[in-house]
Order: sequence, then structure tokens, then C-alpha cells
Amino acid sequence: MPSSEQNKQKRGLWSSRFGFVMASAGSAVGLGNIWKFPYITGMHGGGAFVLFYICCILIVGIPIMLGEMVLGRHTRKNPVGAFKSLKGGPWTVVGWLGVITGFVILSYYCVVAGWAVDYLWLALRGTFTSQHAATVPELFTELLLSDLSQLFWQAVFMAAVIGIVLGGVSKGLERANKVMMPILFLILVFLAGYGVFSPGGPAALRFLFSPDWSKLDPLSMLEALGQALFSLSLGMGAMLTYGSYADEKTNLPTAAFTVSLMDSCVALLAGIAIFPIVFTYGMQPAGGPGLVFKTLPMVFSQMPAGSLFAALFFLLLVFAALTSGISLLEVVVSYYCDEQKWSRPKATLLIGLLIFLLGVPSALSNGLLKDISFIGNRNFLDSIDFLASNYLLPLGGLLIAVFTGWVLTTRVARSEIEKGAVRFHFYPVWHFLIKYIAPVLVAIVFLHLIGLF
Ligand code: PFF
Repeated sequence: MPSSEQNKQKRGLWSSRFGFVMASAGSAVGLGNIWKFPYITGMHGGGAFVLFYICCILIVGIPIMLGEMVLGRHTRKNPVGAFKSLKGGPWTVVGWLGVITGFVILSYYCVVAGWAVDYLWLALRGTFTSQHAATVPELFTELLLSDLSQLFWQAVFMAAVIGIVLGGVSKGLERANKVMMPILFLILVFLAGYGVFSPGGPAALRFLFSPDWSKLDPLSMLEALGQALFSLSLGMGAMLTYGSYADEKTNLPTAAFTVSLMDSCVALLAGIAIFPIVFTYGMQPAGGPGLVFKTLPMVFSQMPAGSLFAALFFLLLVFAALTSGISLLEVVVSYYCDEQKWSRPKATLLIGLLIFLLGVPSALSNGLLKDISFIGNRNFLDSIDFLASNYLLPLGGLLIAVFTGWVLTTRVARSEIEKGAVRFHFYPVWHFLIKYIAPVLVAIVFLHLIGLF
């Protein structure tokens, strides 16, 4: 048997095409949609930011997602192995950049996910319904001040991520995704409906969808671009890694489009659910990273069966974070298993522990380390998030786009996409976007930010 065939069989595949799409959607939909999208939209003035974000998804995000899936399935490798086998030399650094970015993002992702686990626990104990709506936001402040609680929940979450990744591709990763994603979607639709018909609904819709272009400065453009990549899990090889487990018959363009559509709908629904509460209670849209934790529980505290809804919502949020967390860890683990020949349990446990340790300063960033600020007055957690989403991911995305558009030959790309009798009529459009538009847009935003443009 040729060695590439052996490699394919050893690495495992998704058990079905639906499983691949759901796992990729599971990676994409996470804290980025429900925690981060609403709060950075609030910080960057709403409408214009949202529209620019949607443009980034369409002309940068979807093309890069397809590019990553093509690279992954064609090579059947982790990001480092993929670039090494396709071209090698300096291009291998792109894979390395992905592994490092995965490491960095997961470190603070676990802390924020830990907040969601804490809120699940509060919901189960009926904490929200036993108080007045006005005092609910204080619960978040209390949590941030408690280093120990944050470390504890961070550890609980990380242990769960490690446990699932230990199970391997189709058993661990895939099974976990299929049931909860649709339920999350339904509950968000319900909460968004609730928001639209509340007193702050019209103001929220105006804030989200009527653009004031004067609010869109280079920094908000960079944030929108970084957020599009973060939300779609792009720029670090997560979709490349997931694509490497996809079977030959999978229609990759349809998968990339479906995943991006689901991801964007979830982010917009989260915004439509959260901003009406902000306006109803006269809160600040630019309230920062605590937005989702301060707003939605206020609604739960007043709703009939509020505890039940709160528990369900935070359970699903934790679940969404888990399915993204496992994809972050999987990128790093697949590198150590494939390239360094570590066993899966060794790689998962060791890397998981290291990532947990790297996350400790993030967990302490509002307590013990609160007086230390890093990038632009941000605390440790916000700085490392800023660095990863706005520099590492766009840089990774730019290099992946350039590689797919300029280095990978049309023959290879097209025949990979059209395997299994798939016809991709939009190939020229995709190729144009990934070769010219995506790299140029990312480069312009970068140059603008550092004042060179
Ligand atoms: N897309 C995830 C979210 O929106 O929460 C975060 C993420 C997962 C980013 C995997 C990058 C990644 F590779």
C-alpha cells in the first residue's frame, strides 16, 4: 500500500459528511460568536462595524475557509506537515505559526469558557431568579475578583477539552457536535425574538444595522477582520486540520459556505438577543468583555421559568465553547502525533497541561494582575486576545491565502475540490478572491493600522 494511503487510514476520518460539517461548525461557533462578537460590536459603534464584518466573512473568510479545507484534505496532514509536504522551506513557518496561535488562543479561551461554566453553576442554583435584575450584573464583577473561582472553572473546562480530544476524531470530536448545535440555534432564535419585542428592541436593531461610517476607523476594521477569522476558526490551520479528516466525496465548497453561514447567523442572533437588553436597561453598549454575562441573566431573572432557561443557555454556551476548544487543542495535538510521533494520550495530556499553565495569568488578569496593563491599557487576557485575533490570525490568514492563490497550482486545487464528482462552477470567483482580494484586503488593513497607508 502506498504510504499516503496508510497515512489516511491511520489518521481516521469523520464517520459521515454531515459529521464533518457539524464538527467544523462546532469549531466555528463558540465564544467568538456569543461572547466576543456582541461586545466588540458594542465597542466599535454597531452598524458600520457589523456591515464591514459581514464583508470580511464574504470576501476573505469563506475563500480562506475553502482554501484551508483544500490544503488539509489534499495533504491529510496537520498544518506543519501540510506546508512542509506541499512546498517546505520557509512555508513550513505558516504551519508553525498556526500551532503556536492555537496554543495561545486556547490558553485564554479556557478562562472565558470557565466564566460560562461558573454561570451554568449559578443558573443551576437558581441564583439569577432569586435577585432583582438590577443586581445581576454585580455577579460578574464578583467572579472577576475571585482568582480562585476562575482558576477552578478554567481547570474544569480544560479537563473536559482534554477528555474529549483523548477520544480521537470520530468518537470524541464528532459525536459531541451533532445534537447540541441545533438546540443552541433554537434557543438563540427564541432569545433574539424576546429581545426584538422588548422595549429596547427597535433601538438595538438600529444600533446593529444602521451604519454610521464615521465610526469605522482602521482599528475597528482590523478588529472586524480579526473577528471574522477568529469566529470562523481561520488563519491557524484548524479548518485545515479538520479538512484533513474529510472523506474524498465531501463537497468542500458547500461545507465551507454552510459553516460560514451558520456561524454568521449565530453571531447576529447573539447580537439581536443582547443589545435590546442593553438599551432597555440603559446600559453601555461599549461595556466590554462582560456584556453577555451581565445582560442575558437580567432577562433570565425576570422570565417565567428563568432558571431553566438560564441553565439551558449556559449549558449550550459551554458546549459551544467545548467544541471550539477541542478544535484548538486538536491542531496542536495533531502536530505532535503526526510529526513528532507522540502517542495521542501523551500529546493531549502534556500539551493540555502546558496550555492550562499559560492560561493562568489570563485567569488572574482581573485580580492579582489587575494593575498590570499591556497592549493599549488592556489587561493580560484582553491583550493576549487582541494580539492573537488581530495580529496572529490575520497574518496566518494572509499567508494561507497567498499560498493557496499563488503557490498551489490550479490543477491541484481544482482537482482536489472536484474530487468525488463535485462540480464547482464558482472556481474562478474563488480563485480570484483568494489570489487577489483576500490578501490585498488583509494587507491594506494591516498597513493602515501601522500608519503606512
Ligand atoms: N471560532 C471559535 C469561536 O468563535 O469561538 C474560536 C476559534 C476556534 C478560533 C478555533 C480559532 C480556532 F482555530
